[in-house]
Amino acid sequence: MTTTTKDYSKYFQPPSYKDAKKRGKEDVQVLYDFAIPEELSRFGEGKRYMIRTYGCQMNEHDSETMKGMLEAMGYASTDDKYEADVILLNTCAIRENAEDKVFGELGHLKSLKTEKPNLVLGVCGCMSQEEGVVSRILTKHQHVDLIFGTHNIHRLPKLLQDAYYAKEMVVEVWSKEGDIIENMPKKREGMKAWVNIMYGCDKFCTYCIVPYTRGKERSRRPEDVIAEVRELARQGFKEVTLLGQNVNAYGKDFEDIDYRFGDLMDDIRKIDIPRIRFTTSHPRDFDDHLIEVLAKGGNLVEHIHLPVQSGSTEVLKKMSRKYTREQYLELVAKIKRAIPNVVLTTDIIVGFPGETEEQFEETLSLVKEVRYDSAYTFIYSPREGTPAAAMADDIPEDVKKDRLLRLNDALNEISREANERLRGQVVEVLVEGESKNNPDMLSGRTRANKLVHFQGPKELIGEFVHVTVTEPMTWYMKGELAGADAPAAANM
Ligand code: 5AD
Ligand code: SF4
Repeated sequence: MTTTTKDYSKYFQPPSYKDAKKRGKEDVQVLYDFAIPEELSRFGEGKRYMIRTYGCQMNEHDSETMKGMLEAMGYASTDDKYEADVILLNTCAIRENAEDKVFGELGHLKSLKTEKPNLVLGVCGCMSQEEGVVSRILTKHQHVDLIFGTHNIHRLPKLLQDAYYAKEMVVEVWSKEGDIIENMPKKREGMKAWVNIMYGCDKFCTYCIVPYTRGKERSRRPEDVIAEVRELARQGFKEVTLLGQNVNAYGKDFEDIDYRFGDLMDDIRKIDIPRIRFTTSHPRDFDDHLIEVLAKGGNLVEHIHLPVQSGSTEVLKKMSRKYTREQYLELVAKIKRAIPNVVLTTDIIVGFPGETEEQFEETLSLVKEVRYDSAYTFIYSPREGTPAAAMADDIPEDVKKDRLLRLNDALNEISREANERLRGQVVEVLVEGESKNNPDMLSGRTRANKLVHFQGPKELIGEFVHVTVTEPMTWYMKGELAGADAPAAANM
């Protein structure tokens, strides 16, 4: 069958970058009346679901919301795709290789779908907000039953019902700026919880697809965030990570109150949760009040992820990051003065269009100056529809790879030195579970999110312990349990 979008007219709502780019034309609505429709509350009884999540913590948390909805419909989870009645791929669009993985998986799932025609196969997340991806799935992956966007998550119960009964692919992708939907159920596991404080991004860095796939910057009301964190404290969670694409812009969109990210952190630190983190910060909106609040410490951990992307002012300008190398370094100096034991991590892109060897070396020198404890590093990947995709992607692949290697070498050396300084020190570790590669060992994270492996009884999982660092490595540290009364150094 030849497919055209016309065949899907009943459901079809394709993504539109033009609509996604409109900002401020519509008011953001906060909707409090979410409920699973009564007639769907047993729809999943006797059936199983599986969600594969790609990409960032925002996606991981969206998957928790979808799991919450599916379980409220009576579905049970499974890790076995042969057992699943519903498979959802929650996708990431940030770089081409993230998309390749999803298309590869869709290819693999084709035979399963042939064996199990009643299986509902859905694609959601950032890729479904891309114009090109939806048409590619419509034409080349017709075994997909359902595509829905990042603004349509709350519609999952209804869309799933439609997909069961529809003969054609159900596609619902709203490109509007996005509302805030409160009170969706969430399935959280373990001792660490994510909490959205805002959605979307208005920064439009020229390489980045996120402002198109996640819509306008919009903040949850402080009372809703605080109530959620309080509830997590009551449930005994040990760590909360506040999530937003650009948390420092929190509250900019409130018209009735003057309440920003610093104010939110100052209120949240009073809640009885042992550790509070946040991600991701944009250097541009990182204000003095926030630094002052973070310096109060306590349950606000001394780790800041502060993406720099490049050490060259000219490249930053082409990226539309809206700060210079000097302004970034000034911010870092200010943070270090206020929080002397702070651990900084970052994101860096190499091989941005036109990046010269000298400009890349400026990134190297910035890394050495800031001394990040770790960093995520990426080769630039053109994203269709973004301004950078119209620039000539002119750095040869081998040069890009070479820059990535040199950058990682420099970063690794710094990470190792930073960890080496912890040799013999006692660190506070939240024990997360058995070590992945060695079930005889336990693993956990320090306040600065450093991974520590040590030997100890399984009962410690979920607890805070003190560990003496015995073998610092580049990516992790090995240690030994210290006595409960061993005082932990504050800077880890
Ligand atoms: N190419 C490579 N890396 C990218 N990132 C975002 N967009 C791109 C792209 N087109 C990186 C940035 C961002 C991180 C989440 O992903 O470093 O901070
Ligand atoms: Fe993308 Fe820039 Fe927004 Fe981060 S701040 S999500 S890099 S556009």
